[in-house]
Amino acid sequence: MEIRGSNTPLLEWTGDGLAIGLFEDAVELTGELATLDEKLAGSIKELIAEEEFKGKQGSSTSIRVGSHSPVRKVIVVGLGKPEALKLETLRRAAAVAARTAKKQRCKTLAIHLPILNDDQAQTAQALAEGVQLALYQDNRFKSEPEDKSPQVEQVDLLGLGGQEAAITRANQIASGVFLARQLVAAPANSVTPITMAETATQIASDHGLQLEILEQEDCEKLNMGAFLGVAKASDLPPKFIHLTYKPEGTPRRKLAIIGKGLTFDSGGLNIKGAGSGIETMKIDMGGAAATLGAAKAIGQLKPDVEVHFISAVTENMISGHAMHPGDILTASNGKTIEVNNTDAEGRLTLADALVFADKLGVDAIIDLATLTGACVVALGEDIAGLFTPDDALATQLEKASEISGEKIWRLPMEEKYFEGLKSGLADMKNTGPRAGGSITAALFLKQFVKDTAAWAHLDVAGPVWAEKENGYNGPGATGFGVRTLVNWVLSEV
Ligand code: BES
Ligand code: MN
Ligand code: ZN
Repeated sequence: MEIRGSNTPLLEWTGDGLAIGLFEDAVELTGELATLDEKLAGSIKELIAEEEFKGKQGSSTSIRVGSHSPVRKVIVVGLGKPEALKLETLRRAAAVAARTAKKQRCKTLAIHLPILNDDQAQTAQALAEGVQLALYQDNRFKSEPEDKSPQVEQVDLLGLGGQEAAITRANQIASGVFLARQLVAAPANSVTPITMAETATQIASDHGLQLEILEQEDCEKLNMGAFLGVAKASDLPPKFIHLTYKPEGTPRRKLAIIGKGLTFDSGGLNIKGAGSGIETMKIDMGGAAATLGAAKAIGQLKPDVEVHFISAVTENMISGHAMHPGDILTASNGKTIEVNNTDAEGRLTLADALVFADKLGVDAIIDLATLTGACVVALGEDIAGLFTPDDALATQLEKASEISGEKIWRLPMEEKYFEGLKSGLADMKNTGPRAGGSITAALFLKQFVKDTAAWAHLDVAGPVWAEKENGYNGPGATGFGVRTLVNWVLSEV
């Protein structure tokens, strides 16, 4: 599919589908839309008058146009209230237009939507992202593609001629999101620690990043006892991935991004019981997938920032050499951990990854992890939990998330709750009481970062997967995190 910026006037565009946006309670059609309505013999006015279409955000309807017309279908997309219009509204509107065009078997589509704050580049990027992300398909595991209807082949963003650079940016970012979605959607017999390392190798060679893969022996030398404790039961070798993007010249900032990389989480000997969703636990590398997706995007966008992409990848399995509940592990910073629950494995792998990142001398570290069911209970499927002691970093991430439309919400790091992790034998246990489970998880992670680097943790257990179609996401893996991370890396601070 090709997306282009075009200055062809609305009334002169010819092709299969023409998508226009209408605000909620748009009483009057003006300008080109009024002329279009005349051409359509008042069909748009009729839709509004008969209350078939109210302009609610996310709603859409299509008007069949006579065979004499230069367009086959007019797709009307709701934009909600004009005063609430933001980038995400436009991204979602473009997604609705693209999905509707596909259903209507349109091969060519023009999208005519308002330009936000006169910012053509930002608008073009958001629209292109919406189209790309909405039309994503994954046929890798079908013997034959199920959907044989025609594909949308060409999309013209009207009024946005000359915005090729912004569209290219959207395509590069989308390629990172697609990689993350593919990695998350693929089952655990397809995406393994070995194939994750291969993916990192591919990114490094495609986009000129440096790559270091630490094998088990290397991790042993670094005393990564927490990561290796989790990895012990698996028949597959653990892989500690470290990709580095270095700009030409002196970097403006040095950053590290860490992703939880459990290619499967059975729970270990505290095996996941009935109703715990064990069959969905291929998604437990969603943080690592977003990290690799961001690496792929950053490798193409080439900002003047140094970024380290890190993931300690393994599976949490059961076997004769599985860690026992109650085992005491020593992490690479020397801290000891009593593993009172082998299903709280993510924080063990992250502990050694955080210690590793901290030694790189970066300005800030962000980790993304499908860490706790408790966070999904707190915030639901669509919103990630943000935990950080650093207000400035919280603000940076909230801004990046506002632009991406990936929702995050800050939760408190209530120090008092660390009492729940007190161990009689070791420095700490790996789990505390059920209540406040996502907070104690964050407090556990904090033990492995020094105060010198700004650090934030995003619990993405909910939003890495969308059960149903939701805007440009779902059904399936969302690639959550990639776009917020990219915005954060690109942001001027
Ligand atoms: N990978 C899970 C968390 C998870 C749950 C991700 C649901 C996605 C959806 C994590 O390793 C885990 O098992 N966490 C436990 C922690 C508990 C043992 C303290 C949980 O959330 O139940
Ligand atoms: Mn677990
Ligand atoms: Zn897990």
